[in-house]
Amino acid sequence: MAQHTPLHRSVADAVAAATGSPAADIKVDTAPKAEMGDLAVAAFPYAKALGKKPNEVAAEIAAAFRPTGLLASASATGPFVNFRADRATTLRWLVDAALRDRLIPRDLGEGRTICIDYSSPNISKHLAYHHIRSTVIGHALAQIFRALGYRVVGINHLGDWGTTHGMLLAAWALWGPPADRELDITALNDLYVRFREAMKQNPDLENQGRMWFKRLEDGDAEARALWQRFRDISLAEYEAVYVRLGIKFDEVRGESAYEPDLARVMKELREKNLVTTSDGAQVVELEGEKTPILLQTRDGTTLYATRDVAAAEYRWGTYHFERSLYVVDRGQALHFRQLFKLLGRMGHDWVARCQHVPFGLVRLGGKKTGTRTGNVVLLRDVLDEAERDVREVIAQVNADLPAETLDRVAPIVGTGAVMFANLVSQREKDVDFEWEKVIALSGDSGPYVQYSHARCASIMRRAGERIAPSDLETVDFGKLTHDAEWAVARRLLELPDAAVRASESCEPHIVCHYLLQLAGDFSYWYTLGNGDASLRVLCEDPATRRARLALVAAVQAALATGLALLGIGAPEQM
Ligand code: ARG
Repeated sequence: MAQHTPLHRSVADAVAAATGSPAADIKVDTAPKAEMGDLAVAAFPYAKALGKKPNEVAAEIAAAFRPTGLLASASATGPFVNFRADRATTLRWLVDAALRDRLIPRDLGEGRTICIDYSSPNISKHLAYHHIRSTVIGHALAQIFRALGYRVVGINHLGDWGTTHGMLLAAWALWGPPADRELDITALNDLYVRFREAMKQNPDLENQGRMWFKRLEDGDAEARALWQRFRDISLAEYEAVYVRLGIKFDEVRGESAYEPDLARVMKELREKNLVTTSDGAQVVELEGEKTPILLQTRDGTTLYATRDVAAAEYRWGTYHFERSLYVVDRGQALHFRQLFKLLGRMGHDWVARCQHVPFGLVRLGGKKTGTRTGNVVLLRDVLDEAERDVREVIAQVNADLPAETLDRVAPIVGTGAVMFANLVSQREKDVDFEWEKVIALSGDSGPYVQYSHARCASIMRRAGERIAPSDLETVDFGKLTHDAEWAVARRLLELPDAAVRASESCEPHIVCHYLLQLAGDFSYWYTLGNGDASLRVLCEDPATRRARLALVAAVQAALATGLALLGIGAPEQM
C-alpha cells in the first residue's frame, strides 16, 4: 500500500531509518489481523539490499523503532514487522481529516490531465441500457480522478457520422416525418429500423443511404440541416438523462467534428507508406493482427477508425494528456488494439498513454441488451422504475418520512441504486441484474451504503450535536477503547488507498467494495449497542458519547466522500 496517510508515512520513515532505503520506496500494508498490528512491512526487499536474512532485518527494524506521535509500537513476526498505531492520536487525525474531506490525497494528480471518452452514444438512437455501463463507469472514473486532483476532460465522442446517418436521411426522403406523432428520438429510431427492414427486401436502398451520406459529407445544405435537427433531438434526450445522473461533459465532440481532418490523416498514412489496398478499400496491415484496420471504403467514405485516429491526435494536441481512457464495451477490443497499433506505427509515442477500459455485458433477466435486439431497455425507463420502487422500499422502513423528503430522496436513491449496481462488480465481468437486490436497503447495494450514511446523519440529529473540526480539541479520543470502534478506524485508514488503487486500475468497484466494508464495520459497531447500553453511541457518559459521535461523524463523511467518488449522492435522511 502506498503512503497516503501520515501513519503510513511514519512507518515508512521508521523502516527507512533502520534500513537505509529511501522512505518513498517502502511498501506499507495493512496488517492482516488487528491482533498483530495495524500496518505491516515485509522485510524481503530490504534484506536483499542489505545482504541479510529477512527475519534478521525485521528484528532490527523493530528494535530500532521509537514511538512517534501516531505510532505506538513495532514488533517483528518472522520476516514481517507489525506496527501498532497510537489509537487516540490516530483517531484524532482520522476524524479531523474525514470531516475536512482530506482523507484522500487531493493533490495527487496536480498538473496532470486525464482524458476520458465515455458514454459516446450513436445519435438518433436511444440511450439504451447497455450504454449505461460506459456512462456510469466513465463518470465514476472522472469523479475519482477529479477527487485526486487531476484535471479531467470528460469527452462525449458522439457517433454522429457515417453511413447509418445517410440511411436515416434516405429514410426521411422516402417516408418523411411521422404523420401522427412528434419527431422525437423514438420516431427517429423507428425510421431507421424501418429502413433496415426495407433494405432486406430492396438492396438498392443501401445505395440510397450511401448517396445521402455522400451529400452530407459534401456539405449539401438540405442533408446538413436535417442531420443537425436529428442530432439536436438526440442530444436533448441524452442531456435529460445526464442531468439525472449528475453528469456534465467537458467536451461534446462527435465523430463529425473530425471530418475536416480525414483527408490529412489519409494523406499522412499514405506518405508513411502504411496504406495498402484490399478489395478497393484502404487498409493498414498491423503486426500480430489477422485482420487489417479498415480506414476507407471502396467508394471513398472514411470509417469509425479513421475518425478515431483524428480524435486521438486532436486530444493529444489539445490536452497533452497523462492518460487517455476509452470506456467502451469489450466487444470493441479489436478496434482499440488496432487503433493503438496504428497510432504507434504513425510514430505517436504518446499512444502508450492511451488505454481501452473495457467492460462486460449487462443482462436483465438473462437477456443481453443491445441496439439490434428487439427489446431494448431504455435507461430513462430503468431510472424511472428504480425511483418508483425505492420509494416503496424507503416508505416501508421509514413510514414517518415526510412526503417532501421522500420526493427529494427517491431520485437520489433510485439513480444511486442503478449506478452502484453497474459499478459493484469488476468491470470486465458480465452483470446480471436481480432487480430486488439492486434496490434493496441491505446487501451489496447502493441504497445500503446510502442508508448507512443516512443512519449516521440520524444519530447526529438525535444527539442534537454537530461535531466540526474545530470541536475536536475537546474530544477525548482515549474513550474509544472497544475493538469494534478501532475496526471502524482501521477501515477509515484504508479509504485513501482504495481511491488511489481505483484510479490506477480504472476499477471503481474497488471503491464500492470499500464502502460496503465500511458500512458493514459501522453497522457491527453500532448494533453492539442494542445488546449493551454502555456500548451505545448515545450512551450516558458525556465524554464517551462525544468521542463516539466524532467517530460516527467521520464515518458519515467518509461514506459521503466515497459515494461522491462514484458520482452517487448521499442523502441525510431516508
Ligand atoms: N459510438 C460508439 C458506440 O456506441 C462508441 C464510441 C467510443 N469512443 C471512441 N472514441 N471510439 O459503439
